[in-house]
Amino acid sequence: MDMHLPLDLGPGPEVSQSCTLANMAQAGLIIETEGRTRLGDEFRIAASRLQAVISTSIAAEERCGNLVLVTSTRPAEGKSFAALNIAASLARTGSRPVLLIDADAKVRCLSELLSLSGRAGLLNITSDRTLQLDRLTIGTPVHNLFVLPLGAVTDALPNNGQSLPAAVERLSAHFSAWTLVIDTGPLLATSDPSVLAPVASQILMVVEAARTQRSELEAALEMIKACPKVMLLLNKQTGQNRSAFGAYSYTGGYYAKPNLPPPARS
Ligand SMILES: Nc1ncnc2c1ncn2[C@@H]1O[C@H](COP(=O)(O)OP(=O)(O)OP(=O)(O)O)[C@@H](O)[C@H]1O
Ligand SMILES: [Mg+2]
Repeated sequence: MDMHLPLDLGPGPEVSQSCTLANMAQAGLIIETEGRTRLGDEFRIAASRLQAVISTSIAAEERCGNLVLVTSTRPAEGKSFAALNIAASLARTGSRPVLLIDADAKVRCLSELLSLSGRAGLLNITSDRTLQLDRLTIGTPVHNLFVLPLGAVTDALPNNGQSLPAAVERLSAHFSAWTLVIDTGPLLATSDPSVLAPVASQILMVVEAARTQRSELEAALEMIKACPKVMLLLNKQTGQNRSAFGAYSYTGGYYAKPNLPPPARS
């Protein structure tokens, strides 16, 4: 059954509401039922730093200044987890609606975890440039947070399709009053993040403490050097290693230092 919550967005895009809190918890949303948690706090800090960077990009009228691309070097470093929780933090603390976009066509992708498989989304836009974008956004129980599922490629009429970067640019322009967070695949294993890097005004590069190799990180950063602002988000870092974050001497962009702790052991 669809969940209908009152959403006070004022005049704006029409949204269908069908993502439940249980779906979001399944996808990794941190739910703080008993007060604030360290992990939640780390995301709030990272989101506020990211918000400052986004605001600068928007004020400077940069190309897709309202867009953040989330990637990493390798699979399973925490991209989708970070994208979801950063998007939720940005939505809760900022004044702009946030659209979390699934751009990673893999098994158990964010859309699947959110129980949104089969819903039209980003790939449908690449097949049909005339699609009404407002109708594709899905509301969530988090105030001001919306999701654009991955969707599926459909048969395109001649000259009706558009490339992935063009579709993302169209989204950025259409939702110019929103912030867009795109969950993508790993740079060293998929091509989409590097294809989208020139479009994104800022990239959040998730680095898994004690696992991401420095040489791989440098290779990945080289692939996205077209993006002017890259923030490193260190995930799953344990207490003693906290200073290890600074060991990455990447000076081409910004650092985020959320020090997200490792997943709790069950
Ligand atoms: N700091 C963290 N605390 C708790 N759980 C985490 C943390 N980081 C990641 N996880 C969990 O680890 C698993 C892998 O994370 P996630 O799916 O976000 O990785 P990914 O980089 O998106 O992977 P892929 O490349 O396959 O898309 C998920 O179950 C996620 O919920
Ligand atoms: Mg993922």
